[in-house]
Amino acid sequence: MSANPYETPRLLAEYLLLHYGSAEEVLGGKIGPAEAAGFPVRLVRELLAPVGPDATALDVGCAVGASSFELARTCASVLGIDYSHAFIAAATHLRDLGTHPYEKAVEGTLTEPAVATVPPGIERHRLTFEQGDACNLDAHPNSKIQNRKFSVVLAANLLCRLPDPAAFLARLSDLVSPGGQLLLTTPFSWLEEYTPRDRWLGGTPATGRGFDALRARLEPHFTLEHRADIPFLIREHARKFQYGIADGTRWRRR
Ligand SMILES: C[S@@+](CC[C@H](N)C(=O)[O-])C[C@H]1O[C@@H](n2cnc3c(N)ncnc32)[C@H](O)[C@@H]1O
Repeated sequence: MSANPYETPRLLAEYLLLHYGSAEEVLGGKIGPAEAAGFPVRLVRELLAPVGPDATALDVGCAVGASSFELARTCASVLGIDYSHAFIAAATHLRDLGTHPYEKAVEGTLTEPAVATVPPGIERHRLTFEQGDACNLDAHPNSKIQNRKFSVVLAANLLCRLPDPAAFLARLSDLVSPGGQLLLTTPFSWLEEYTPRDRWLGGTPATGRGFDALRARLEPHFTLEHRADIPFLIREHARKFQYGIADGTRWRRR
């Protein structure tokens, strides 16, 4: 098993820029799909339906936290969980201090200094970040998750990074309160590096499309309320980007 790429300084910087960079910072003034910047904030604005004043939220695979901070605009408490210790350390630093300096990749080993900043108007004390495994959420003895249900559960671009996505989906009906919301985004980028092929939910002639498999697994407990294409842009360096279009859905727990 190779080392977790989400612990490396390169991906930490990529995700600080993805989560907190403006279109200008991401594209460096070059022509490009500026509307795809700011994915972690945009997906919450697109998918989250109104919540009550005491709403609680769980962001699984929160990375460096920008979607969690956006959820905290309306949710009274937000717990962000990620497998990467480096990402959780950065998210916690942003919660505590509001900013996080990092080095943005330019070309080869050249970088330039950048600062990730939590947007204004967010009550940072509403957030907690914790390292944990989406596939084993109850395992950590200090986890705030044990036996809890949440008004909102978000898993953004997590599904096709898990070794057993079906097991994760099966756990979700217990995690979302009756009447609560499940927000999912995924580009269905199945890769054997992360998920053994026999566990892919879609993307093979035998399984068909990932969305159909998702629907079949969720519909016994959830009703699909909203579906939207949500583009994202990850800058690898000043002249190379990953452009993706996540399939975003909101499911209501019955
Ligand atoms: C493609 S990134 C998406 C991050 C973030 N939600 C976003 O939309 O930018 C996948 C994230 O899932 C995390 N992750 C991978 N496997 C995980 C697991 N088993 N449990 C929790 N998080 C995991 C990675 O560390 C990484 O932060």
